[in-house]
Amino acid sequence: MLRLLLILVVTSLTLAVPHERLLAQRSSTSIYKLVDSPVNWYEGKESCEAMGCVLAQPKSEQEYNAIFALLPTSEFYWIGVTDLDHEGRFTYDTDNQDIVYNNWDLEEPDNDNGEEHCVDISFSNTYWYDYNCNLQDDGAVCECPPDGVRGDPHMRTFDSRAYTFQGTGWYILLKDCTNKPRFEVTTKFEPREDSTPDQVRTITTTFNITVGNQYAVVNGLDVTTGSTDGQMTDDKVITIQEEDKNIKLYFTSKDTTFTFNWTLRNHALDVSYNGSFYNGKLCGLMGNADGDTRNDFQKPDGSITKDVNEFGESWKVNDKKRF
Ligand SMILES: *[C@@H]1O[C@H](CO)[C@@H](O)[C@H](O)[C@H]1NC(C)=O
Ligand SMILES: *[C@@H]1O[C@H](CO)[C@@H](O)[C@H](O)[C@H]1NC(C)=O
Ligand SMILES: *[C@@H]1O[C@H](CO)[C@@H](O)[C@H](O)[C@H]1NC(C)=O
Repeated sequence: MLRLLLILVVTSLTLAVPHERLLAQRSSTSIYKLVDSPVNWYEGKESCEAMGCVLAQPKSEQEYNAIFALLPTSEFYWIGVTDLDHEGRFTYDTDNQDIVYNNWDLEEPDNDNGEEHCVDISFSNTYWYDYNCNLQDDGAVCECPPDGVRGDPHMRTFDSRAYTFQGTGWYILLKDCTNKPRFEVTTKFEPREDSTPDQVRTITTTFNITVGNQYAVVNGLDVTTGSTDGQMTDDKVITIQEEDKNIKLYFTSKDTTFTFNWTLRNHALDVSYNGSFYNGKLCGLMGNADGDTRNDFQKPDGSITKDVNEFGESWKVNDKKRF
C-alpha cells in the first residue's frame, strides 16, 4: 500500500490532538488500550501481553467503533489479525479462527511484494491494511480484561498492572486525590474458606462507594445507602442498578463517569471510567491512572515502592466503625 500521502495528511492533524488521551475505552465486551510507541507487529504483541492483554481482535462494528474512541498520537496501529499461517486467509492471533469482521480499504489486502501478513488499522480513515510484520507501525491496540479486583484478590490497576495482594480488612480501592477530594471507594477483603494460616487467600466481600456525603455499601447482594452526616437529600449521586446476580453502580464527577460492576458469584468488582479529568489524579489500590504502569505502586505520601505488600498495606483503612 502507498503510505506516504496518508502520513503527510496526518502530521497536520496530530498537531491539533491534545496530549491527554483516554486510557481505555470499553465496548460491551472488552476494554481497549493503546501501546502508543513505534513497534513492529511482534513487539506490539509482546507489549500487550506485558499488560496482561492481547492484540485487539475486533469482531463487530460496535467493538471496532469502541477502538476509535481512543485518541492515538499517530496513525497506524497493529491489531491481532494475520495471515501468517495461511497466505490470504486472515485469522485471529489467539485462536487461529477465520475473521468474522473486517474493514479493508479498497484493493486491500494486497500482500505487496509478497511480504504483508499482519493487519494494521488507520486512525485517520478507519480502514484495515496488510503490512510487513517486521516493520514498525506507530503502535498497537490491545484488548484487555476489565480493571478492578477479581477473586483472590487479583488486582488490576487502571494502567493495567496486574498483581496479587492478600491483606485482610478494609482498604482504599480508589480515591479522588485532587486537593478537593470528592469520592472514595473502599473494599473489605476477607480470607477465603480454603485459607490456611500459612497461606491466606482473600476475596472481596463488601465495598463502600462514598461521593460527597452519600454512600452506597454493597455486602454480598445487599445494598445499603446513607449519608455520612445524616443529611440525605433527594438528589441521589450514586445510581444503583440491581440485576439478577449483578449490581452495577455509577456516579459522575467533573467530565467522568465511574462505573462499578459487581458480580458476587466470582467476587469480581470491575471498575472503569470514561473521562480525562481524573487521569493521574486518582490513588489507592487501583493506582494513579496516569498511563504509566511502572509508577502504580504509589503510597498515600506520594512515594513509589516496588514491594507489593508495602504498597497494599499503605492503603489500609484503620477505622473500627466500619463493618
Ligand atoms: C458485569 O460483569 C459480568 C461478569 O464479568 C459480565 O457478564 C457483565 O456483562 C458485566 N456487565 C456490564 C454492564 O458491564
Ligand atoms: C461517560 O459516560 C456517561 C454515561 O454513559 C456519559 O453520559 C458521558 O457523556 C460520558 N463522558 C465522556 C467524557 O465520554
Ligand atoms: C463508607 O465510607 C465513608 C467514608 O469513607 C464512611 O464515612 C462511612 O461511614 C462508610 N459507611 C459505612 C456504612 O461503613
